Amino acid sequence: MRWNSLVGLALVAPSHALIRFGCSQLVVDRLDPLVNPGLTPSPHLHQIIGGNSFNASMEPVEHDLAKLSTCTTCQPADDFSNYWTAALYFRSRNGTYKRVPQKGNVGFEGQNGGMTVYYMQNSLGDFQQKSKVKAFQPGFRMLVGSPLASTKPEADKFPQLTYTCLQDMNTRYPETKNFPQKPCPAGTMVNVRFPTCWDGVNLDSPDHMSHVSYPANGTFENQGPCPASHPVRIPQILYEVIFETKEFNTKEQWPADGSQPFVWSFSDTTGYGNHGDYVFGWKDDSLQKILDEECYVNCKTMKTQSIDEMNKCSVPITVDEDIGDTNYIESIPGQKSPML
Ligand SMILES: *[C@@H]1O[C@H](CO)[C@@H](O)[C@H](O)[C@H]1NC(C)=O
Ligand SMILES: *[C@@H]1O[C@H](CO)[C@@H](O)[C@H](O)[C@H]1NC(C)=O
Ligand SMILES: *[C@@H]1O[C@H](CO)[C@@H](O)[C@H](O)[C@H]1NC(C)=O
Repeated sequence: MRWNSLVGLALVAPSHALIRFGCSQLVVDRLDPLVNPGLTPSPHLHQIIGGNSFNASMEPVEHDLAKLSTCTTCQPADDFSNYWTAALYFRSRNGTYKRVPQKGNVGFEGQNGGMTVYYMQNSLGDFQQKSKVKAFQPGFRMLVGSPLASTKPEADKFPQLTYTCLQDMNTRYPETKNFPQKPCPAGTMVNVRFPTCWDGVNLDSPDHMSHVSYPANGTFENQGPCPASHPVRIPQILYEVIFETKEFNTKEQWPADGSQPFVWSFSDTTGYGNHGDYVFGWKDDSLQKILDEECYVNCKTMKTQSIDEMNKCSVPITVDEDIGDTNYIESIPGQKSPML
């Protein structure tokens, strides 16, 4: 099924909101205020979107993203959250690397890189969105996935981190747990879905994961209940990050041994180490208000800004190094020697 036809099927009035919006790139930098607060540079490179209060050390609660930001790269004008994933590299036949650019989704073609973000109360494509969820609280942050996962069983602990090989911009199936093994004509889409149950108390936890949980049985999609330890149902956040691979798609560029040439900025060539980070930063109770509206994608309570305004917001790069945006580099920033 395709995104176009999904939207076309919206015949039943929703009970609550499902929102979907684009965000341009804020910065591509070697910072990770969640896992390595204060560390410049952090071990690997990230691509980051959202409010411009983003910096190396964002103390929970104290660092008020909505107050400290003066702009956001996201379409909702009240969303100063930060969202990030690792960056992606193409490894050439001679062992040098170039960073793979990103592009906006259908409807956000003019956006400068970045990604698409969803907040859902039921699965994508469920136009009723009957479940009610509690929006995140100020200071909330979380992480999903593990950069150390290098096998499918390890990746399967995070059931909803996948890749879609885009035949065109509307391809949505199938999804795989590892990198696509063939060139993807319209790009590689990385899908990052976060857990949907919260312990109701902690805004964070030492591993940035144990304060949230997957449903006790069943899935978010089939409305499985939250476990007693994590009783509060929170929105499912989904990132769609579209890496524009067209510059790297010919047979001559791909490895002669039939393997695939893409590698995460933390040196993962399998794709099983897919992970994403989230720091909540919506202004006041604007997110809860939007989520309580009866709407699917087109939500009146969501104040929006133009793609031009999204593209104007950015922060200067902190770690000054060649990240291989315009030329091939010998090794990935922060990673040991080139992999030969
Ligand atoms: C990051 O933001 C905090 C405010 O929470 C500020 O105190 C700190 O100086 C900033 N750090 C940098 C490196 O800009
Ligand atoms: C390595 O390959 C890249 C991509 O084909 C090319 O641009 C670069 O010049 C090559 N570098 C060397 C040292 O051969
Ligand atoms: C989950 O378990 C509960 C209680 O055992 C049961 O009532 C419910 O149907 C199950 N839900 C799913 C989605 O499997």
